[in-house]
Amino acid sequence: MDVNFYRETCTAFDKFLIAFKPEIKGFHPYFEHSFWEMIENGGKRFRPKLLLSVVCALNPALSKNAFLPALALECLHTYSLIHDDLPAMDNASLRRGHPTLHQSYDEVTAILVGDALNTYSFYLLSQARLDDGVKIRLIRELSDKGGIGGMVIGQAMDCFFENQTLEIQKLQEIHLNKTAKVIASSLKMGAMISNVSKDLEDILSDFGLKLGLYFQIRDDIIDVTQSEVQAGKTTQHDKGKNSYVNLLGLEGANGSIKDLQNEILENLNGFDKRLKENLNDLLKDYL
Ligand code: IPE
Ligand code: IPE
Ligand code: MG
Ligand code: MG
Ligand code: MG
Repeated sequence: MDVNFYRETCTAFDKFLIAFKPEIKGFHPYFEHSFWEMIENGGKRFRPKLLLSVVCALNPALSKNAFLPALALECLHTYSLIHDDLPAMDNASLRRGHPTLHQSYDEVTAILVGDALNTYSFYLLSQARLDDGVKIRLIRELSDKGGIGGMVIGQAMDCFFENQTLEIQKLQEIHLNKTAKVIASSLKMGAMISNVSKDLEDILSDFGLKLGLYFQIRDDIIDVTQSEVQAGKTTQHDKGKNSYVNLLGLEGANGSIKDLQNEILENLNGFDKRLKENLNDLLKDYL
């Protein structure tokens, strides 16, 4: 299987995701529509594509079985964005090229759609066509790194320390938690599905942490260098935040990602040929 198989799998996944829209019972006039709207509005699908890059390389026969776990990642991530944009958190009005849910509808809807996408991601993991033991490991991984062991505690620190300048090590810890851990989980979950060694799971997870830190610093840079139209989301918005740009300046932030980029490229070179090809294909737009 070469990189074309990975590309075809990603294209099939994109179609699968849009067609998947779940049915919601209830007489609420717009909840069902709002539930899947932020998923449909797009996004780069970076986390599902990371998971698929691993499965397509290491156990291609299971690539279709990986669709529900990949979708679970996108649901959890989308929930984190919807809540991140809420007035109580970053108070942003644009996401994925569209008004945020609390703008289009109301705060209650945005909170509850986020809640529903969060729990739905674990429902999806439970429904995957994979061995029960593997599914339990996937659920444990995502509920930890997408929750109190990662994204949620990272977001809590990010918001608590607004308008209070932290040391760079502390900011790195925030970025590792709020963003990098779910990115690391995306690769690790691909390894779990593929039934590879625990050593390889750990190697991919460590690589994912570096990649995730890189991704969030790059996002800090996007906030100051891109317009809302270019980014598809509210930008020039991190003024009160601890961000790499605010702590190190734009040049300093660019230097940090350059160093990480070199490490990431070096690590990639050590990977199995097919995995390296798939990841290179995905990461060429980012690195
Ligand atoms: C945005 O994530 C939030 C961060 C963790 C930086 P993405 O940049 O992956 O957003 P989408 O999914 O493409 O909208
Ligand atoms: C959000 O980081 C990380 C999440 C866990 C959602 P940001 O607040 O920088 O993400 P954007 O810039 O709003 O996409
Ligand atoms: Mg935020
Ligand atoms: Mg934000
Ligand atoms: Mg940002």
